[in-house]
Amino acid sequence: MTSSFIEIRDIRKDYGPITAVQDVTLDIRKGEFMTFLGPSGSGKSTTLYMLAGFENPTSGDIRVDGKSLIEIPSHKRNIGMVFQRYTLFPHLTVGENVAFPLRIRRLPKAEIETKVKEALRLVRLEGFEDRKPALMSGGQQHRVALARALIYDPPVLLMDEPLSALDKKLREEIQFEIRRIHRETGVTILYVTHDQEEALRLSDRIAVFSHGRIDQIGSGQTLYAEPATRFVAGFIGDSNFIDAEIVEAQGSSARVRLQGGVEVTGVPLHSRSEGTKASLLLRPERIELRKAANDGRNLSGTIRDLTFLGNNTDILVDLSKGGSVSVRLPFGHPMLQGLSTAANVDLVFDPAGAHVFQA
Ligand SMILES: Nc1ncnc2c1ncn2[C@@H]1O[C@H](COP(=O)(O)OP(=O)(O)O)[C@@H](O)[C@H]1O
Ligand SMILES: [Mg+2]
Repeated sequence: MTSSFIEIRDIRKDYGPITAVQDVTLDIRKGEFMTFLGPSGSGKSTTLYMLAGFENPTSGDIRVDGKSLIEIPSHKRNIGMVFQRYTLFPHLTVGENVAFPLRIRRLPKAEIETKVKEALRLVRLEGFEDRKPALMSGGQQHRVALARALIYDPPVLLMDEPLSALDKKLREEIQFEIRRIHRETGVTILYVTHDQEEALRLSDRIAVFSHGRIDQIGSGQTLYAEPATRFVAGFIGDSNFIDAEIVEAQGSSARVRLQGGVEVTGVPLHSRSEGTKASLLLRPERIELRKAANDGRNLSGTIRDLTFLGNNTDILVDLSKGGSVSVRLPFGHPMLQGLSTAANVDLVFDPAGAHVFQA
């Protein structure tokens, strides 16, 4: 017995010669907000469609509350959906749209009316029953779609890039509403996005997809601080990768040699082979700049560009032996005083906050 509510076991989906999803195994707790994050074509939607019942896995099993879904048709799975291809009916009013799932289930008229009111209150659209969707803003239409998906209290809600067509401000507003609704209803949500910021804002845990597989599953904090692969490191948070060589591996940390013979010890290691070419991950916000000491103990370079971005200033440094590194300092940071292009600087970082990946 596990405590997981949704169990995805080794599912695979082939379309002829194309493998869209493979080796995907995942446990989701009741009430959890789980996000599938990854680039376009990485298998996120296909995985969600197999949960929804729009597609059948080539192999593997999906269980909800201990029962396999595989033989159950889509409309009997009791799963709410907010998909872009599953939009509002334009000829129906808001009330009729929201009532639709209950009409299909043949609930009594009075009960439908009460539930429509409740669902519209949940998405803060009380009194909009008679409005046609075309006369509402994009954000309001999304909330109608949410109300329609939630009206029959499904234990699971699937959302496939529901906000990708909206502008940033509206997207953030609806993200906030989705979080509130998740808290208020306790519904288990599986959410698909290619936007790391959206994933970090919304999720309890994130599954990072790459080429049809899951590279890593964890909280946003874990993925940022302990990325399991170079792909995850590059996808969550901003990153610099610079060439490195693993000189010595001791347990889970390494001594690495960087350009110009600079050596650093105690770098978290994600590869076991010594003497191999590797990449060192440095987060832009975890690098300090010092006046160049020219003692060969640190990476050094020349400032090419400073970009003021409000909260932060981004500083692009050309390394003295080739390549460049981006450094980010918060507004008003004392190190910014006196920094200008063409200045020679040393780059100092805590090795424990960096990571080495085999190239
Ligand atoms: N119906 C289909 N027929 C053939 N290939 C498909 C089909 N659906 C998806 N694929 C392929 O499967 C891969 C994963 O697609 P998808 O799950 O839509 O990715 P994502 O949602 O992460 O962008 C892609 O290479 C895509 O081209
Ligand atoms: Mg998709």
